[in-house]
Amino acid sequence: MEDRLKSIEDEALRALEDAQDKEAVEAVKVRYLGRKGLLTGVLKGLGQLPKEERPKIGRLANEVKTRIEKALKERLEALSSAGGPKLIKGFDPTLPGRRLPVGHLHPITKVLNEVCGIFERLGFSTAQGPEIELDFYNFEALNIPPDHPARDMQDTFYVDDKVLLRTHTSPIQVRTMEIMEPPIRIIAPGKVYRCDSDITHTPMFHQVEGLMVDEDVSFAHLKGILTHFAQEIFHKDTKVRFRPSFFPFTEPSAEIDIQCVICRGEGCRVCSQTGWLEVLGAGLVHPAVFRHVGIDPERYSGFAFGLGIERIAMLKYGINDIRLFYDNDMRFLNQF
Ligand code: DAH
Repeated sequence: MEDRLKSIEDEALRALEDAQDKEAVEAVKVRYLGRKGLLTGVLKGLGQLPKEERPKIGRLANEVKTRIEKALKERLEALSSAGGPKLIKGFDPTLPGRRLPVGHLHPITKVLNEVCGIFERLGFSTAQGPEIELDFYNFEALNIPPDHPARDMQDTFYVDDKVLLRTHTSPIQVRTMEIMEPPIRIIAPGKVYRCDSDITHTPMFHQVEGLMVDEDVSFAHLKGILTHFAQEIFHKDTKVRFRPSFFPFTEPSAEIDIQCVICRGEGCRVCSQTGWLEVLGAGLVHPAVFRHVGIDPERYSGFAFGLGIERIAMLKYGINDIRLFYDNDMRFLNQF
């Protein structure tokens, strides 16, 4: 009899837990406590039990009844607590949800946007050109004739004799000057291609080209703008050095170094103990380039520059292998 009472109680309590509305609670009440209910049946049958057992079972049955009544009341209260979530067994609506992973921009895209933003705030607008380019725009119009040694430096992917994958963003200078009258102030971001691969080279990488042409543009303007750029993208105290160099499409030409961001000029492995890191090529637009696009070099002057985005990203984030950007390893990419 005691077992019977125990199982009636368990069943009733479980049925209450599952009850999702008042009607269901009422049904439980009828089934166990109603006039023909299961517990009522036990109480009614007490008379048939041997005399000595009656008081004990009677007390037990009354305790079970009290507990079921209490559970009924609590269940009703829980259900009526104003429009709250329905309780489903095994589901706790108060637990915090599972987060869905949220993506973010690739580090190269971030740095590219940052670089473009700096020049846009200086009044430069953005120009674009094709990645599959004519030899004419990539080389000839930039004062690099067919057997010029500068072509060797560029490890070109050729499509055929006249068509290639652009090796730099400089052809966009030419395309822009063909269709725009000075004053010109543009930047040209984009992908470029060279047949080269090691820890500092990938066959595809990104450059941003800059070009400013007007009546009195001088090397001083170039220095001012690139110094401002270096201090914005790295650190406001970054020191900048202009070193004489050579590019066929600029005269004079310079390579621009920044003070090493790792050792701050002390000398370390990254800067080969020099304290300086090369980040840009630049110069004043060569008269031969102006002539190719019909701009009068006697009247106009201009400066141009080109920078590599991967290189800047590596220095900014202290990354020592360029290929990490393109391995698609989420453990690397998630850090940005
Ligand atoms: N096109 C050069 C390169 O890819 C970079 C460069 C140097 C661009 C000097 C320029 C410049 O516009 O004036 O190596």
